[in-house]
Amino acid sequence: MQYRHLKGPLQEIKSDLLAVGVFGDPTRDTVFKAINKATEGLLKTVAREQCFAGKASQSVVVRSESMLPAKHLAVLGLGEKSAFVPPSIRDFAARTVAIGQRLGAHNVALTLPPLALSRRADGVQYAVEGAVMGSYRFNKYRTQEEPKNTIKRFGVISSAADGKLTAAQSRAINAALARGEAVAEAVCRARDFVNEPAGYMTPSRIAEEAKNLAKKHNLKIKVLGRRECERLGMGMFLAVAQGSIEEPKLIHLTYSPPGKPASKVALIGKGVMFDSGGYSLKPSSAMEDMKMDMAGAAVVLASMSAIATLGSKHEVHAIAACCENLISGSAFKLRDILTAMDGTTVEINNTDAEGRLTLGDAIIYARTKVKPDQILDFATLTGACVIALGPYTAGVMSHSEDMVKRWFDAAERTGEDMWRLPLTERLKPQLKSHLADMRNTGERWGGALTAGLFLQHFAGDSPWLHVDLAGPAMAARNHGAVQRGGTGFAVATIVEYLARD
Ligand code: BES
Ligand code: MN
Ligand code: ZN
Repeated sequence: MQYRHLKGPLQEIKSDLLAVGVFGDPTRDTVFKAINKATEGLLKTVAREQCFAGKASQSVVVRSESMLPAKHLAVLGLGEKSAFVPPSIRDFAARTVAIGQRLGAHNVALTLPPLALSRRADGVQYAVEGAVMGSYRFNKYRTQEEPKNTIKRFGVISSAADGKLTAAQSRAINAALARGEAVAEAVCRARDFVNEPAGYMTPSRIAEEAKNLAKKHNLKIKVLGRRECERLGMGMFLAVAQGSIEEPKLIHLTYSPPGKPASKVALIGKGVMFDSGGYSLKPSSAMEDMKMDMAGAAVVLASMSAIATLGSKHEVHAIAACCENLISGSAFKLRDILTAMDGTTVEINNTDAEGRLTLGDAIIYARTKVKPDQILDFATLTGACVIALGPYTAGVMSHSEDMVKRWFDAAERTGEDMWRLPLTERLKPQLKSHLADMRNTGERWGGALTAGLFLQHFAGDSPWLHVDLAGPAMAARNHGAVQRGGTGFAVATIVEYLARD
């Protein structure tokens, strides 16, 4: 798909499909009125016939019958104006490309809803993201009836009202087109990583994928195998991996800015390529989707392509701890006592709480080898977080108020749902062991928080922020620009956090 910015007036836009959005009653919308007039009232008649009231679930499509250069017109309801936030434009664009695909359109144009001038470029970015993310399909394994993507050109019209753009506005819009494309490409790559079956996407395979990314984007890469991790004393990570014949891989990608970096940031991702639960075996229904337990690794690795394309003032390290949590004659057992890379001993009271073990060693690795100014980790860590926040919202835990503020500023701009959860000190005694320094799980209630507290032990006093993605990493059904399966959730916010100005 090719993306461009188009200038109005709408009545002169040539395309197979021209989409406009309206809030509520269409007859009060000036853009609707203008194209209705151009179609000699056809649009209004059809809208009335179909009881179109501008609700977010509604749309009307008509053929313009040569009254306009655009072949088809689509009016999409955007719901209540007060509930609409700029990132909702992604969903609007995704709905538009879906209509375009149905019509077999090659050339689609979308009119941005009126946005304050300062956010117009953001609107262009969201529209491109929505178009790309909305067209995403994981068709690699379909041998029959593979639906084709017909759309070749996607135009965003942002200047219907005032026509002229200053040179600075044009530059901002071109940058926004490129930004939207880079973010969406990274999101789609993360989705691919998650959607691949675990039988294909092994630790070695994702390490190969990371090498390809490094080559393409000029990143430094280091992949540590079992030997290297043993030498570093990563007893927790290796214990999780020891039940599988697949070699664990600790993947470390580095982006360095051209000049002196403003700071060093480590992004850590949970890469449990399949989580059977180990000897604390999951029931089949809970295990069914556990190829997605590497979504944290997928998003930190995939984000690096957008960070490299857009440039960041920070030196960014993506560290993905990749292994499989399986059962076998060599798997780790309950009441095993492991030694973490920093010497902490950990008694295992549940082998299904494996993510925190892999991340704990990865956090120590980052602290001691990279010495970053900030650590962020991304993990499908607990079912408890999904119980607390539902399937669309990530849980965020941190002891750095400064990071929390900046992270939530970025998340608000990208529209990704995040909610802070506390690192409740009173739950800490639950992680006490009679035999070792710690045990790996607490009691049932507050399970997302005790997982966070476990990680916090290894972060020590480093500025650190933990994102539990267990809910939003995978979608059970299509919604907006998201298809069923891996979502690429958090990529947009990571890029916004690190690659802005
Ligand atoms: N990978 C799971 C968490 C998960 C659950 C992700 C559902 C996505 C959807 C994690 O390794 C796990 O098994 N956590 C346990 C922790 C418990 C044993 C303390 C859980 O949530 O039940
Ligand atoms: Mn588990
Ligand atoms: Zn897991």
